[in-house]
Amino acid sequence: MTTTTRPVAVYTDVEDTDPAIGIELLEAAGFEVRVLGTRDSAEIIAGAHDATVLLPGYASVTREMIEAMPQLRIVALMSMGFDYVDLEAATEHGVWVTNVPGAATEEVATHALAILLAATRQLGFYQASAKPDTWNDRALTAPPRLSETTLGIIGLGKIGRELVRLARPLFGEVVGYDPMLPDTPEIQADLEALGVRRTDLAEVRRTAHVLSLHLPLTPETEHMIDAAFLAEMPSGSVLVNVSRGALIDHHALAAALDSGQLSAAALDVLETEPPAADHPMLGRDDVVLTPHIAYFSARTEIEYVRIQAQNGITLLETGTPDSPVNRPA
Ligand SMILES: NC(=O)c1ccc[n+]([C@@H]2O[C@H](COP(=O)([O-])OP(=O)(O)OC[C@H]3O[C@@H](n4cnc5c(N)ncnc54)[C@H](O)[C@@H]3O)[C@@H](O)[C@H]2O)c1
Repeated sequence: MTTTTRPVAVYTDVEDTDPAIGIELLEAAGFEVRVLGTRDSAEIIAGAHDATVLLPGYASVTREMIEAMPQLRIVALMSMGFDYVDLEAATEHGVWVTNVPGAATEEVATHALAILLAATRQLGFYQASAKPDTWNDRALTAPPRLSETTLGIIGLGKIGRELVRLARPLFGEVVGYDPMLPDTPEIQADLEALGVRRTDLAEVRRTAHVLSLHLPLTPETEHMIDAAFLAEMPSGSVLVNVSRGALIDHHALAAALDSGQLSAAALDVLETEPPAADHPMLGRDDVVLTPHIAYFSARTEIEYVRIQAQNGITLLETGTPDSPVNRPA
């Protein structure tokens, strides 16, 4: 067993990130830093049993892990979503959980717009057909003129509203639904200035030709886009998801695409990443699929790592981290 007088900070998996800036910040603040390079819970428990700060990449943080780390004070994430951490167990054990709020709002909204446009303009089909022998092929349906259609947004938080700002000039109307957003005069004025009309879920579902999801994954929102929901959307509409894969039942989505009820989907996220080889969204020319990359840019690559490490440092220096998502006792 390692003995150390310095607090220990442990990175779990760092598959597609360079933690160098975080390591530098943590070491300068007096931490001993370890990089395990694994998502396996037994290996994480073995390598981080004495951790004060846990810095996951994509690894799930379970109750068992939290209970096996008696000195743990913070799980500092490098994502906006925190659905892969047992928040209840963390809070119960006095462990802070932090995320990186707003760090990639511009990137995620831009990516949503990019794949939204790729799907509505049927780029999957036309990129595949732009060859000498299929040059004149046409997709089964002609795309709509966007200025004659309605964009629907579910979740009018930071990313949802940024997408409204970017996409508003392209669409005839923008409607949005968010049951948690307070109905204050400031928010009403903000939504009005952006040009989004706030309404109920039924109207958004019934009227949006292009529907984009910008809400967190919770037990209540898991599979909210199921067969019944898809059947209520306008025929030939397009679904966009850059939030979390499990918001959608992808088997129901495949069936809706096959029947023509939906004309296309644009997705950056799936319920399991990477997906199994037989995942129903793979290899379809009516699905624009990117590998959970919406947040990524030269700026966020650095900012995510910096904010993640800084949360651990700020907690030790002040007793409260910068961007908590829970309030442990
Ligand atoms: N693909 C990526 O790379 C990537 C990167 C960052 C964030 N995300 C995802 O984007 C989501 C949104 O991020 P954000 O920064 O806008 O968060 P945010 O907290 O600013 O906004 C989320 C909004 O969803 C609303 N909401 C909650 N439950 C709802 C429900 N049942 N129906 C409708 N709205 C509901 C909240 O009131 C809030 O306004 C995150 O939860 C995260 O999962 C993805």
